[in-house]
Amino acid sequence: MALPSINPTKTHSWEKLKEHFEGIKDVQMKNLFSEDKNRAHEFTIKWDDFYVDFSKNRITTETFKYLLELAEDVKLKDAIKSQFSGEIINKTEGRAVLHTALRAPKTAEFNVDGTNVIPEVYQVKEKIEGFTNEVVNGHRKGYTGKAFTDVVNIGIGGSDLGPAMVVDSLQYYKNHLTTHFVSNVDGDHVNEVIKKLNPETTLFVIVSKTFTTQETLSNANTLKTWFLKTASEDAIAKHFVAVSTNIKNVQEFGIDESNVFPMWDWVGGRFSLWSAVGLTISLAVGFKNFDNLLKGAHKMDEHFKNEDFDKNIPVVLALISVWYNNFFGAESEAIIPYSQYLNQFATYLQQGIMESNGKSVDRNGNPIDYQTGTIIWGEPGTNSQHAFFQLIHQGTKLIPADFIGFAKSLHGNQDHQDKLTSNFFAQTEALLNGKTKAEVIAKGTEEAIIPFKVFQGNKPTNTIYINKLSPESLGKLIAMYEHKIFVQGIIWNIFSYDQFGVELGKQLASKILQEFNSSANNEHDSSTHNLLNYYKKMS
Ligand code: F6P
Repeated sequence: MALPSINPTKTHSWEKLKEHFEGIKDVQMKNLFSEDKNRAHEFTIKWDDFYVDFSKNRITTETFKYLLELAEDVKLKDAIKSQFSGEIINKTEGRAVLHTALRAPKTAEFNVDGTNVIPEVYQVKEKIEGFTNEVVNGHRKGYTGKAFTDVVNIGIGGSDLGPAMVVDSLQYYKNHLTTHFVSNVDGDHVNEVIKKLNPETTLFVIVSKTFTTQETLSNANTLKTWFLKTASEDAIAKHFVAVSTNIKNVQEFGIDESNVFPMWDWVGGRFSLWSAVGLTISLAVGFKNFDNLLKGAHKMDEHFKNEDFDKNIPVVLALISVWYNNFFGAESEAIIPYSQYLNQFATYLQQGIMESNGKSVDRNGNPIDYQTGTIIWGEPGTNSQHAFFQLIHQGTKLIPADFIGFAKSLHGNQDHQDKLTSNFFAQTEALLNGKTKAEVIAKGTEEAIIPFKVFQGNKPTNTIYINKLSPESLGKLIAMYEHKIFVQGIIWNIFSYDQFGVELGKQLASKILQEFNSSANNEHDSSTHNLLNYYKKMS
């Protein structure tokens, strides 16, 4: 069964939402709170160690009802079933979408073309576990007999962002291995990493689903050449491993088949950290913690698959986001974690959300005349309070924001934790209530300055509050956003799992590269032509 193809704007619920929007667009949230003492309770979902308060949004019970109807109208339930049952929902690439199988228990059954993939998934997991233990406990050694001290993850996009974000987020749980990430084809990136490495004690993990990606192969070759300055060809088998679906290309690179960790085409790059793409995560924090990350994600999968929509966290967050994107005309969403550990979280989500839902053709192949993918950005609070919060509070744009926080600090420094949390709660309260002219006057503000000190308020936020940052809770959080992406793709009637938009630039880059190194002269617009010549002169 193919995914349903329903234009959301032609549904009955969309019509109701449009009409309803006219009546609610200027309503002040603070009035909704004073009129209904039960509001926070009504719009909060408590699940496991998650407390998700979505009451500080410009919605009423009626809005919520119509949004839930929209989920029904676009046949979200059927779509969820199609995804979990391994149907070819990535139609434009002819693939199933089963990252959920990577974190399912051993007893589960996920069929692709009539074959249960779980035994294969567990074979690879066991390989990851065995390899991780050998490296971490020092039994696996480099070419001079020394244990490994450093791991270099070489990959880009989904083969970099997920592992890099998780390793950084879980640094509290890290072992003695030092991890490095090389992604950019900018040679200064790889050379800065090389400065920190000793070839005798460094393990290289080349991660590329296709093993054709220019950036990754260039960096891998540069590192191999550097390595071979001191080591012999035989040493490659000890120091280089690869994660890929393209075993042939991996072998051609010189990596032994026993050092290949397979993955499958039913795992999209930006949803792949749960596969062997997460090998560097497992090496950095140990297999047990990696497995707990997967267990957390699986719990969120079960919640998403089984929970009624009105209590289903990814569904509710997706619907609220559609409400702002398609009715209020909000262009972007901010992700503000009140945890320095989640420093890379927004960057990671940018690929997941924008590569998936940045589409303008519907599932029938027709151009779309409504808004799709939101622009994602953000930085940890409190740092961002001292950077871009001015614009969120007093600028002209509506920027819905997810505030993410943890009740417990990992190092147990209560004084800091109290200050961090007070800022978190204060910001969402300030965004909600603003500051009226009367309040500014009451402070005795000089007449001419009054307008500048007024805050309109009515700025929406979701509070995603979790007991503690752990591999398991991080797994749940990432999976929560993955499912939110899916729901929005279904509502917008687009294919979320291809990424043809990244191809055109790549193709032109390879043409231009040829021109740098030969007399080939392609036709360009005059701007590109001049830049090319300028570069040839200057470089
Ligand atoms: O940016 C496009 C993309 O295909 C991503 O989807 C993917 O994560 C990345 O390139 C890397 O691809 P690969 O793992 O095949 O090197």
